[in-house]
Amino acid sequence: MVFARGGRNNAAMNDRRAPRILLGITGGIAAYKTPDLVRRLRERGAEVQVVMTVSARQFVAPLALQAVSGREVRESLWDPAAEAAMGHIELARWADLVLVAPATAEFMARLVHGRADDLLATLCLATAAPLHLAPAMNRLMWSNPATQANVASLRARGVALHGPASGEQACGETGEGRMLEPVELAEAVFAGVGLSRPLAGRKVVVSAGPTRERLDPVRFLTNRSSGKMGYAVAQAACEAGAEVVLVSGPVALPAPPGVTRVDVESARQMYEAVHAALRGADVYIGAAAVADYEPAQVAPEKIKKEAPTMTLELVKAPDILASVAALEPRPFVVGFAAETQRVEEHARAKLERKRLDMIAANRVGDGLAFDRDENALTVLWDGGREELMTAGKLDLARRLVALVAARMAAQSRPASNVVHVRR
Ligand code: CTP
Repeated sequence: MVFARGGRNNAAMNDRRAPRILLGITGGIAAYKTPDLVRRLRERGAEVQVVMTVSARQFVAPLALQAVSGREVRESLWDPAAEAAMGHIELARWADLVLVAPATAEFMARLVHGRADDLLATLCLATAAPLHLAPAMNRLMWSNPATQANVASLRARGVALHGPASGEQACGETGEGRMLEPVELAEAVFAGVGLSRPLAGRKVVVSAGPTRERLDPVRFLTNRSSGKMGYAVAQAACEAGAEVVLVSGPVALPAPPGVTRVDVESARQMYEAVHAALRGADVYIGAAAVADYEPAQVAPEKIKKEAPTMTLELVKAPDILASVAALEPRPFVVGFAAETQRVEEHARAKLERKRLDMIAANRVGDGLAFDRDENALTVLWDGGREELMTAGKLDLARRLVALVAARMAAQSRPASNVVHVRR
């Protein structure tokens, strides 16, 4: 289930004020790096409000953080003076992004359960801003199944995780669990949601979900697509500043905030809706699992089981992706390839055959990808590739959207110039 995080309009980019980062610090040894992290975030133009937990105080002095952030550090829900100046709900609204660094195993466990037992946990619960975490802990605490289950559940809600990195740890052990270095972390956060809006002013059309091809009034052919990946892509494109139209087959997901959804059933309806939505569009991302074939005839009445055997005649359904790629001029076209074997080879062939600008390939079957909250993608384009390792679908979608924006910038296509010429 993709939760609707970060759908809030990003005022920072609309009125050109500095992006506002609420930096939560929890009680891990990596907290000693946070004054540097504050400086790195501020170097990039952010306003930073620090909120510490009680245990974070054991590792870093509030005064140091106040000095580098230029703002009074918040620590308690019960501080009348601070609450009078900016109450915790106001603070939750103030933030364009919440970054918790370091995020301890204990804090992540509290987040999973939606606890509101201190100021930072309450803010994480009360904010509509995207939530980013930089986990840091002993390698065994990180690999413990309890922590890994918490990580999976947070990712599934759309929380972005940065790191941890591998290396020597403060406890003397070596392994995965180190917090990313402040420079890397600041870069990762700015490259992610909300703070850089590489698709501002662009229109993106996304297709998602399965299609249903009717056989008679009560039966249809369909597939296992849940729509989660396409919905995550639509949300990520919206966060990146684009106007987004999501053409969706029948799924059980709410539309991400700020996205215009057009509901369809069949491949033919999806074809019509996509082409209608493409007016003025700069990007088309075909994440839908569109039927390749549709019944040659739809029976007007329920088909009765009279004959001992039955043959269905199917005809090719319109290939929406190929039809969009054949428009002249055309938007930047991204396809998805779900393959059960020789993933990269088949995907590259599809990229060339359908004349796509980019293709995102994943392995399916054996419980992979379909209806899962996590996925991994190999993204290919003419002369390039990037491996997007296993992550929550929203996290992956954000990285895919960042790649699309980067490739578009490299090609420097003119914006909003789609004319309808169907082939
Ligand atoms: N697609 C589409 N219209 C169709 C079928 C597929 O737009 N009728 C798009 C999907 O949205 C996806 C991409 O094509 O982006 C890949 O679909 P797939 O069915 O795997 O590709 P095909 O070229 O049909 O190849 P295959 O022989 O593997 O089915």
